[in-house]
Amino acid sequence: MEKPMDSFSKSLIADRREIIFRPEVYKFQKFSEMAEQFRLNERDLVMTNAHIFEDYMKDAGLKCQFVFREKFGPGEPSEQMIQEIFDAVPYDSYDRVIAAGGGAILDLCKLMGCRRPDTVHNLFFKRFPVLHEKEVIAVPTTCGTGSECTNISVAIVRDEKDGVLTGGETKLGLVSDDMIPDKVCLIPELLTTLPYKPFACSAIDALVHATESFLSPHRKTMTSELFSEKAMELILEGFQRIAAEGSEARFAFLDPFVTASFYAGIAFLKAGCGPVHGMSFPLGGTYHVPHGESNYMLFGAILDYYDAHKPDGELMRFKALVARSLNCSPQDAIPALEALLQRILPLRALHECGFTEEDCRTFPVSVEANQQRLMTNAYYPLDLSSEEAIYRKCL
Ligand SMILES: NC(=O)c1ccc[n+]([C@@H]2O[C@H](COP(=O)([O-])OP(=O)(O)OC[C@H]3O[C@@H](n4cnc5c(N)ncnc54)[C@H](O)[C@@H]3O)[C@@H](O)[C@H]2O)c1
Ligand SMILES: [Fe+2]
Repeated sequence: MEKPMDSFSKSLIADRREIIFRPEVYKFQKFSEMAEQFRLNERDLVMTNAHIFEDYMKDAGLKCQFVFREKFGPGEPSEQMIQEIFDAVPYDSYDRVIAAGGGAILDLCKLMGCRRPDTVHNLFFKRFPVLHEKEVIAVPTTCGTGSECTNISVAIVRDEKDGVLTGGETKLGLVSDDMIPDKVCLIPELLTTLPYKPFACSAIDALVHATESFLSPHRKTMTSELFSEKAMELILEGFQRIAAEGSEARFAFLDPFVTASFYAGIAFLKAGCGPVHGMSFPLGGTYHVPHGESNYMLFGAILDYYDAHKPDGELMRFKALVARSLNCSPQDAIPALEALLQRILPLRALHECGFTEEDCRTFPVSVEANQQRLMTNAYYPLDLSSEEAIYRKCL
């Protein structure tokens, strides 16, 4: 029997817009070209990492207010970290926000562009509205999250139930179209210092965004499909070059990779991510596996599950697309894709990051309770027992 759908998913399906494409998009080869185009000045807040500043920005001698994210602690943005940044950077000290970093920095800057809430906690629990007031320019330095064009900012917050703090924490996405950055600048140069592992994790994340959008049964549109397909083609071409020539080959492909991850972001903003993200969410939260790698750990098993239950329809079109890129038959497309990904990043089993036998039973309960907005986008429905079987297969 079909599960009843949550009201948030229903409202997304009822949204008839073909595509949501808000930011103005620019591509520059170097950061200095962007700084010149936008006349970066003392009223600009630039949030980045110290090493990105040193490598790409310092020589330009800009007068902007620079804020280095790592000063506020390691890891993903948390309620406390956001509050500390708010306290350290007064709202009236800047007119424009420039975010140059990975998904975490881009997510933080979406909040820096909004009117300051009474508390960060109230903002994430929707007791304070999202009011976009300052221009935000997003400059991704990884090639995965697509956060530069999405309407969501993710943070680890103190959890609550029926308005009461539970004592625990949860990873929550604050969603509002008002948070989509005003401008996106794609600058391949900025990815040259990204070490191989985060590069590979983020590129696989982008491939998963494109795949889940392509297979999203209720929300994909003809336009989102266009962006998913192009993203998949570009990423698979780059991965094949890396598999053939080694990790250094990525440097000739940084432009297509950063472009593909942006395309995949546009696709999933409309079509939505699915169970790969839904089932990997607790892995990031509990075992701190990097976002892209946690998706990768489940990606193959979920594709195999789809192939076992509904091999035709959109999945056949997906297999045909992968087969064209990898020069194999559609029947071999999923194993060939899994073999290619192994050469990009060796796949770790779940137990290698601490996942236990017990988690195979408890994680599905949490996924069913908390990840419905993603699980409703399953190409073929999952339930407690199929989720347990997938975790077990990856254990
Ligand atoms: N808003 C969205 O739509 C969305 C979607 C998915 C994930 N996210 C969030 O994004 C974050 C993950 O993003 P991510 O994978 O980009 O990781 P990240 O932002 O945590 O960056 C990964 C690491 O790479 C380093 N780094 C980034 N760019 C570099 C460069 N050019 N050179 C050298 N080092 C560099 C960073 O300092 C960091 O240590 C998570 O917090 C996740 O919740 C947001
Ligand atoms: Fe993702």
